[in-house]
Amino acid sequence: MHVKHSKIEIPEVPPAMNADEAAKIDFEHAQGTTRHTFLENEHPVIRIEHLNKTFTDTPVLKDVNLEVWHGEVVVVLGPSGSGKSTMLRCINLLETPTAGHILVDDEEITGANAKQKQEIRRNLGMVFQSFNLFPHLTALENVMIGQRKVLGKSKEEAAAEAMKQLERVGLADRADYKPPQLSGGQQQRVAIARAVAMHPKVLLFDEPTSALDPELVRGVLDVMRDLAENGGMTMIVVTHEMGFARDVADRCVFMEGGVVVEQGLPEDVFDHPQNERTAAFLGSIKEA
Ligand SMILES: Nc1ncnc2c1ncn2[C@@H]1O[C@H](COP(=O)(O)OP(=O)(O)OP(=O)(O)O)[C@@H](O)[C@H]1O
Ligand SMILES: [Mg+2]
Repeated sequence: MHVKHSKIEIPEVPPAMNADEAAKIDFEHAQGTTRHTFLENEHPVIRIEHLNKTFTDTPVLKDVNLEVWHGEVVVVLGPSGSGKSTMLRCINLLETPTAGHILVDDEEITGANAKQKQEIRRNLGMVFQSFNLFPHLTALENVMIGQRKVLGKSKEEAAAEAMKQLERVGLADRADYKPPQLSGGQQQRVAIARAVAMHPKVLLFDEPTSALDPELVRGVLDVMRDLAENGGMTMIVVTHEMGFARDVADRCVFMEGGVVVEQGLPEDVFDHPQNERTAAFLGSIKEA
């Protein structure tokens, strides 16, 4: 078979750090940049070290380093094409990194085989811009299916958990509706209920409100706020909703050109950006 010459250059990265050493460094680094309250000897739930992703010959992520702590809400900001979705997709194993390490609870997930990927993914809930519900299943069935197929729960258990999560997102009375009978905001809330019903370690949101009519955005953000403030969920949220970021984020991360340009407390990033590219981006969002 003819093998096409690959143009991808693989950057050299050091091996993943020893977990305790890395946690110590991350802890020192994160102090002052997050509203998160640290426990003694806490290790981050997600640790990204030297993450690189190149498509064909275009580097899209260039040495991204990021840690996320248990219960922390990290909002990722940045212009279109900066690599935000690619980073989330690498964490969720939807993309394979070109180089670098991603660790969940100190376990390296990069290089996992198909069976390990299944196991890892159940700990990483993802909410997409386009909901991705099964149109032929009811809201209840959509929230049950992963619990049944991946977690092997009984029908009764899965249905009870699904009802609980639909109630939480304010849709108990829509349990028997199918996605085409629901508004975009309602569909997105079902998608959130579906992700939460799996009790993942981390919830990843990729612009969850970008496809919604403006009047439906609030309800989805309220559900996300409830998960963050009352549910103790660890969340990485890519969004352009600046009010949400300012209020709910423990930390804001600004990406551009595949690089984490700046990160810190929301009030610092918004009101006193250190990097001129962050300032320019935030200015353009305000004007929009
Ligand atoms: N499968 C792919 N093949 C080739 N290039 C890709 C692929 N996926 C993403 N890219 C490129 O990677 C870059 C980063 O894309 P990504 O979707 O991560 O950006 P983003 O920050 O999420 O942007 P947006 O705000 O528009 O969603 C873009 O230039 C994009 O064209
Ligand atoms: Mg994107």
